[in-house]
This record gives sequence, C-alpha cells and structure tokens, in this order.
Amino acid sequence: MKCIPVSYHHSAVIFFFSIFFCQISFAVPTDVKPVHLRTEYKLNPVVDATTPRLSWELTSAIRGQLQTAYQIMVASSPVFLAADKADLWNSAKQPGRATNQIEYAGKPLSARTVCYWKVRSWDKNGQPGPWSAPARWEMGLLDPSDWKAEWIGNDLTALGKGKVYHLPPAPFFRKETTLKAPVKRARLYVTSLGLYEFQINGKRVGNDYFIPGWTDYNKRVYYQTYDVTANLKAGKNALGAIVSEGWYAGYLGYALLIGNPVVKNFYGDVPLLKAQLEVEYTNGQKETIATDQTWKTNHGPILEADILNGETYNANLEFENWSQSGFADANWKNSTVYPDKPERKLETYPGNPIQVFQELKSKTVTPKSGGRYLFDLGQNFAGVVRLHVKGNKGDTIRLKFGEMLFPNGEIMTENLRKARATDTYILKGRKDGETWTPKFTYHGFQYVEATGFKTAPSLDAITGIVLSSATPQAGSFETDSPLINKLYQNIVWTQRSNYFDIPTDCPQRDERLAWTGDAQAYIKSATFNNDIAAFFTKWLVDLNDAQRANQAYPLYAPAPSVRKTDTYSPGWSEAGIVCPYIIYKTYGDTRVIRKFWPNMVAYLQFMEAKSNGEYVYKERSFEDIAPKGGYGDWLSVGKKTPPDLLASLYYGYVASLMAEMAKAIGKSDEAAHFEGIFTKIKQAFLKHYTDSTGKFKTNSAAYGDGEGYVDGTMGFDGHTQTAYANAIYMHMLTPEHDQKAGDWLMELIKANDNKLATGFLGLKPLLPALSSTGNSQEAYRLLLSTEYPSWGFEVVNGANTIWERWNSYIKGKGFENNSGMNSFNHYAFGSVNEWLFGHAAGIKVGEAGYKTIMIRPEIASEGIRSVKATYHSISGLIESAWRKTGSTLTLQMTIPVNTTATVFIPTTNPATVLESSKSLKTNPAITVKEFKDGYLQLEIGSGPYHFKSQN
Ligand code: BGC
Repeated sequence: MKCIPVSYHHSAVIFFFSIFFCQISFAVPTDVKPVHLRTEYKLNPVVDATTPRLSWELTSAIRGQLQTAYQIMVASSPVFLAADKADLWNSAKQPGRATNQIEYAGKPLSARTVCYWKVRSWDKNGQPGPWSAPARWEMGLLDPSDWKAEWIGNDLTALGKGKVYHLPPAPFFRKETTLKAPVKRARLYVTSLGLYEFQINGKRVGNDYFIPGWTDYNKRVYYQTYDVTANLKAGKNALGAIVSEGWYAGYLGYALLIGNPVVKNFYGDVPLLKAQLEVEYTNGQKETIATDQTWKTNHGPILEADILNGETYNANLEFENWSQSGFADANWKNSTVYPDKPERKLETYPGNPIQVFQELKSKTVTPKSGGRYLFDLGQNFAGVVRLHVKGNKGDTIRLKFGEMLFPNGEIMTENLRKARATDTYILKGRKDGETWTPKFTYHGFQYVEATGFKTAPSLDAITGIVLSSATPQAGSFETDSPLINKLYQNIVWTQRSNYFDIPTDCPQRDERLAWTGDAQAYIKSATFNNDIAAFFTKWLVDLNDAQRANQAYPLYAPAPSVRKTDTYSPGWSEAGIVCPYIIYKTYGDTRVIRKFWPNMVAYLQFMEAKSNGEYVYKERSFEDIAPKGGYGDWLSVGKKTPPDLLASLYYGYVASLMAEMAKAIGKSDEAAHFEGIFTKIKQAFLKHYTDSTGKFKTNSAAYGDGEGYVDGTMGFDGHTQTAYANAIYMHMLTPEHDQKAGDWLMELIKANDNKLATGFLGLKPLLPALSSTGNSQEAYRLLLSTEYPSWGFEVVNGANTIWERWNSYIKGKGFENNSGMNSFNHYAFGSVNEWLFGHAAGIKVGEAGYKTIMIRPEIASEGIRSVKATYHSISGLIESAWRKTGSTLTLQMTIPVNTTATVFIPTTNPATVLESSKSLKTNPAITVKEFKDGYLQLEIGSGPYHFKSQN
C-alpha cells in the first residue's frame, strides 16, 4: 500500500485525505510490469522444445518490490491474446516469485504453431499489475516426417588442386518455382552438412554466418528457420544456395601440423544441402518446395573455401543473377541425392548464431617492398575483410592475415602454423570497381598484408568485418585506472573473438577447437560480459555428444580425432560438470542438470574408478594419457604443481558441485551421496598431500625425471600458488586450514619476487583465494602489476586482446615463443574477469539465477579509486559502483525488482554509514545486520541505493 503525500495545514484535513488517498491507492493497480519476455533465452524465437521455458523481468519504481504471483496467457493469434482468449494456455494465477525457467504447460503444440503470449505479475501487496506487451515464439519442425527435403550435393572433390591443401570449389544450387497465388506466410527450413548461404530472388536470406554451426554431424545437425514471406511473390521465384566444406568436410585443428593420417573430411567428403520452403497462400492452400535431384547445380567463382585456409574467388566465373528467375541454367546439371543417416537428428539451432558485430575501418595503409601494402585495422579480432578494388580483369589480390608485426614492421604469420589463412580475389575489371567479402572462412587478425594492387590502395580498400556469436551484452566494467579499463576491453574482445559457435581456444591458428579446460576456467568470467545461456545450451550438447566410451569428457568438443592421443585430461574434462553448474547457478537453469545428469554421474563414476576407490589421485595416476598427467597447470611459470594433486582437487570440487546440482533437481539421496564423496575426497586429499602442519607436499621422486609430463623436467612441488589457490577456491579445507593456506599463498607470492606463477588452472582461483583469506590488497597489487608475468605486462606491451602466454610479445624484444604456440587472442588468462565483477565490484550470485544477490565490494587501498560494474542478470539489472574521495566512500547499488540483496558496506565506522543522506536506522528499506571484518552487513530489497561511509 502506498500513501500519496498531501500537504494541508489543517491536521484533520490531512488525516481525512490520507485515509482517502491510501484507500484509493489500494485499489489502483501496481506499477509492477513484466518486460523483456523471452522463450528459451531468446526474443521471439523458433524453438523445438515441446515445453519451452518462458522468462521475463520486472520493472517498478517502488523500493523493495516483489512478485507474489503471476499469470501467463498463450494464444494462437494476437487477436485472441488481446481479448484474453488464451486458447493454448492460461496458467491462471500462480503464487510465487518465479520469473524464469517457467515451462509452458498448455495444450500440446504442433510443428509450425506460432504462440503469442503475455504475462502479468502481482506485487508484494497482492495487487495485480498491467499485462506485458505481447511476445511470441514459433514451433519448428518436430518430427522427422515433417521433413520432405532430401540431402543434395555435387561431388567436386576431384577438382581440389593444391598439393598441401586439397580444396575443391564450392557448389552452387538453384531451383525455380512458380507460386500460384499471393503468399500469406512462408518459412524456409534449411541446413547443410558443411556451411551454407541461402538466397531467394537474388537476396541473401538472414544475417547469420557459419550456419548451421559445428556439431557432431554423425549425431545431430541443426537447421535454421527464416520467415521469408516478404522475399516471395506470386509467379516466378528462384531459390539458390552455396555450400562449402566447413567443419563437416574441411580442415580441422592441427591435424595437418602433427601429421595425423586424416587432415580433413572428418565427418564426410561432400558438403550437402537440405532445405524446404513451405508456402501458405492467401487462399489457404499450401505448397512445399524441397531439395531433391531437380535442383540444378554447378561450380563457379568460389574456387576454394575453407575455414582455416581461406577463400579463393575468381570474379570472372561469377554467374550473374544465378539466384533469380530466368537465369539460363541449361548447362547446370541435376543434383545428386545422398542417403540420410536416420540416427542423425535434425534440430533447431539452440544457440546464438554468428553475426556481424561491427565494421572496422583501416587505420593506416603502409606500402612495403615488393608491391605489398600493410593495412592496420587497429584491433585484433575474429572475422573477415571486405575488399574494395578497382583494376583490370585478371588482376589478383592476395590477402594475408596476422595479429602482430615483427619489430621491423613486417606482418607476423608464423603463429598461424599450418592455417594458410589466405584470401585471394581475381578481378573481373569493372570500371567503377568491385567489392568482395568471403563467405566461408574467417581469420584472427589485426593486420592485412595485400599484394596485387596496381595503384596504391586507399584506406577503404580493406574494411574489417567483426564476426561473433551474437550473445547479448550483459555487463560493463569501468574504473579510474586506464590500465584496468584496457584489460577489461581486452577480455571483452577476446571473448567476442572466441565465442564463435563454440568456445574456441583461439581464432587464428590451425586449432580453433573448443578446448574444455579453457572453457571451464573462463565460463564464469564470460557470464558477466554477455548472456551466454543460449550459447552454452548449444555447446553443452556438443560436449555431452563427445563424452568418451570410458565416460570421460574429452579435451575439446566437438571432438573429431585430429590427434589419436587426444583423449581426456584432469582440469579439462571437468568442463562436463563445471559448465552445466555455472549455467545452472547463473540462470537458474535446472533443465541443463536434468538433461545431462546421467552423463555427469557416469563421469563421476569414471573418476571414482580411476582413483581405485581411494578418492585421491596419487602421483602418476594418469600415466595412461598423453601428455602424462594431462595438461596440468598449463603455461604456468616455474615449478609445476603435480597434475595428480590438481586432479584430486578437481575431483573434490566437481563432487561438491554434483551435490549442489542434485539438490537443485530434488534428488536428495544423490545429493547426500555426492556430499559423502566430497567428504571422502577431502579426507583422502589431506592425508596424502599434506604434512603434519597442513602444508601441501608431493612425492616428487615418484615422477622420476618427469619425462613425458608437461614441463615435467622442471620438477614438481605440492607447495605452490596454484595448489593453494585451487584448494581455497574449491572449499577443500577447513576454515583454519584455509587461513593457513592463504598465508602460504602470500608467502609463495613474496618468495617469487611478489609475482604470480600460475597457469590456466591456477590463475582463475588466485585472486578470489587471496580475497577470501583476507588478502584483497595483494589481489589488487597483482592486478595492477605491469611486470612479467601479469595482465598489466600484456597491456603495457601493446595488447588489445588477451594473450595465450604472459610474454607472447615484448616491446623492443619481439616474440619470445613464436611459431609453436603463441596466440594473441586466447581467453584463458581473462579468467580474472570473475574477480573484477565478483570482488572488485563485489557482485555475487546467491540463490541460483540471482534470485538473491550479495554485493561485497573490495576497496583498493591504492592504485584504484573507483569501480563501476553493471550486470544484466536473468533477474534484471544489477549495479555496483564505489568511489573514494578523501575519507569518504560513496557506493551506488541497484538491486533488481523481485530480488533481495545482502550488501556489505566497507567502513571503519558503521555509525557514519548513510543511505541517500539518511541514517540507516530510520530507513524502512534497510535492515541492519552485523558489523564484522570492516563491513556493515545490510539486507535490502529492490531499487537504487546511494550509500556513504566515512573511513
Ligand atoms: C590450446 C589450449 C589448450 C591446450 C591444451 C593448446 O594448443 O590452444 O588453449 O587448452 O592446447 O593444453
């Protein structure tokens, strides 16, 4: 109940009016309004989940606002929905606070149904708010029998010419059709084995690239659905498609580099197309035009098209207007129909498709010897370029791509290894110039070296096209430190470059695999930058499709056999547990747990068997894999943490996550089971890997000379930064032991010249572990360091993305570790993002899906005077900002409607804490809890808050 303030002189009048207005306002509907309605994490999508999950967020101007009930209506037409005629589902009033993960529970939905929906919420006083604006989703094709289209192809394998790179041309397909009447509704359902671009009447359909995405094509392939009503007309129409080998038949990973017997064609030899256009006429009749052998095919200008190796285009071989009606295709032949694999599922693409994120203008173009021109796009990224050129017929422009320059100003391409990454364009010689963008390749680069220009090109000859999976932006982070702001931007660019249908390790060299270790170490960091719910809904399927026969999760997924010995590794394989857990925790997604529960349980069984029932991995437990022990703390500096010790910590960690996930899906017996296992692992770990004082140790002699282990010859030690940081982060220790571990961690950093020494697995927990053991100032010191190894060292050496190695490049010195492995766009060391949002700004998830939030900012004593983070969670926008001015600390926070937060105000004097210049005691929106460890703990509800404290 809200009283509208009135100011009258006479108190009786005031009394009368207050009662009057209070009663009036009681009857006035609340301002609680649902917005941002989504289905399966997307706005107005096509889905094939038969009980799709709905979500919304709430707005209200009132502090401490909550939803106490909701009602959803789903109708088969917008008119019905507007008239409250919910012919598909009327949820009726449902009590509770849920605003996401709500499964549709209406009439069974058939394929192609468009569902219109709206929702309203009741506020904390039980008052209903207004209905939301309508949203919709559409059902895709649900049954194999919905598909009339056949797989068609044109085997051009024999035309692949190159010796090292066998790259055939890309086949074109076309079909003319006459539509009998005006079109009321038309949908294109389309997919390929390989990559495709579809055109109708001369126009590209949709804005998506690298479709239908990479999956284990033996098990499933995704299709896209496009509303193409506006692309068609009564009468003659033409459909066209170009298909390339892509991930299905093209080169993958480092197969070529390491001399793998198979270097391409991992899933098949001939790229195939499957498409059906379903038309409904205004007269109600329906028609389907589907791929079959009558589609005409030919090959033309795209001479080569490969993801890793580049595209070659001869504009003289273009078919003008080939996807328009009336094109003379007499010399095109019929397509070949290929048999389907019944075990291969056709499903709606669940992720965010790759789209153009932005264009980058060339900053400089520099002539080089031998007629070469070097373009600098000013930013390292993943994508392609648009070439604009005027010249003579037959002139050939060749483009090479590099991330960095040698100190002498020449482009560096040796870190691409066997990825040829070269695009070639042969001009047709149009007088007013010609423009070309490749369709089926991408590169990781900032610089382009071009040859073949007959006259000096201008800057607009090369434009960068940034491509990325279109994961919606969710966060922002800013401080008063230019170094940290640059670091944050570098993290964002690196995520953008590598969340590319799958979470790749890097976008440039002959790898671009979704390495599981990198993915699990970084996923939490990623959640703060972008909404990755749909992206991971897709990749978790890839990951589980790639689970190995022995139940271990793989090293990368999808997992074609690019090297026979690539099997599994501790710290990598646990992505199978860590990633679903983070998706659950961040988005409240329990479906993901239920879906993969049997797979996850099987993996835990594998881990148990591997420990011989001892619940700890003793030295040399993983001699059966290559490298021995797995990858361990990959790219760490100095003495190595034993991979078996790390594996034991990971085992405990994932057992605890399994217990928490079991609880979340109501499996209390299994929760108790995994809780028990977690306890056993903790005990066994302490017994084997700690001495009487609790210090970590290992029997390093057991590893002999370390031969066969990653950096094994440097020797192993249990007493390392990585070991303590992980043990603390993973809650493997008692509180007292935690404190000791924190002290040892500090000692080790000091002994190491005040520097970090951690690799992929040790870095993510390092700053969080320092923070949770009372050493935030040390975390800030490491964060702000610019000495090797540190994040700042990369920044001062010119990084605009996150590097694979701490010393990938040194100004004045050049490349330390070049040709083998030296990526400049590798997100693993970006895992510090988790600390930036979770500790510097202090935003922490409480109940899954940010239903409850904790905000506990850690204030730097020096180096940084202000931090501002925003995070658009699935429950709404969260903000946390702080600023120090003299002895005053100002804190700005926003808590989303329908959530509550425990906030910790840093202060040396709790009596000085004010909110909106008012004392906390008289503030009805705030409950003051205890003062402890320099923080005043408060409970608050939704709304913006403005705190001040004196220190
Ligand atoms: C990749 C990594 C990956 C690693 C395995 C590298 O080549 O780029 O990021 O995790 O191999 O250690």
